[in-house]
Amino acid sequence: MAVSRPLFGFRVVPGYLDRAAQEALLAALRDVFASAPLYTPRLPRTGKPMSVRMSNCGPLGWITDEAGYRYQPRHPETGRPWPPMPQTVLAAWEALADYPHPPESCLINYYGPTAKMGLHQDRDEHDFAAPVVSLSLGDTCLFRIGGSSRGDPTRTIRLASGDALVLGGKARLAYHGVDRILPGSSTLLAEGGRINLTLRRVTIPKALGDQPRNVAHAP
Ligand code: SIN
Ligand code: MN
Repeated sequence: MAVSRPLFGFRVVPGYLDRAAQEALLAALRDVFASAPLYTPRLPRTGKPMSVRMSNCGPLGWITDEAGYRYQPRHPETGRPWPPMPQTVLAAWEALADYPHPPESCLINYYGPTAKMGLHQDRDEHDFAAPVVSLSLGDTCLFRIGGSSRGDPTRTIRLASGDALVLGGKARLAYHGVDRILPGSSTLLAEGGRINLTLRRVTIPKALGDQPRNVAHAP
């Protein structure tokens, strides 16, 4: 399997999931959406809606609304716990993360034809020793990645259906975003668009004796 390290130590694994694996993962995600529907997240303070729709699976879900960015164990609209992560997702972490504890959160972003995501860092987690592992399904996107300062130079790569990306080590806090998707570039999703999964460790494993931040625990 081709693995490139084009810049800043981040790793792209083109075609990590073959078509059959993509279809199986998509079927599992349809079950996730039946229990944890995609919803429209809102930006902190302003409450401005984002262009992507989101859901999560796993013990903790990343959410955003007027109160800020955070992880919580329940869907913000249904109040139900997030459904478990599909086996393919856990297997991807196992294969790519090189980290001895399971992921705690799998954020699911759905991009319609005009959705995008501004340049940002993933830094609401307590444990930056664990990488972020991302899987893409459906239409190809133009993914922008820079360094760990906002002003660092950026470059754009294409992430296609089945591609995996790992942000670990020096690239763990790399700024990244999605400039746009290329509508019609994949036949995987009947409705078109792109799904991205981001797998993350949120808390530092208990054995290391630390407490998470930005995590609301279930009562
Ligand atoms: C994200 O940074 O949350 C999503 C990245 C992507 O859609 O590839
Ligand atoms: Mn991100």
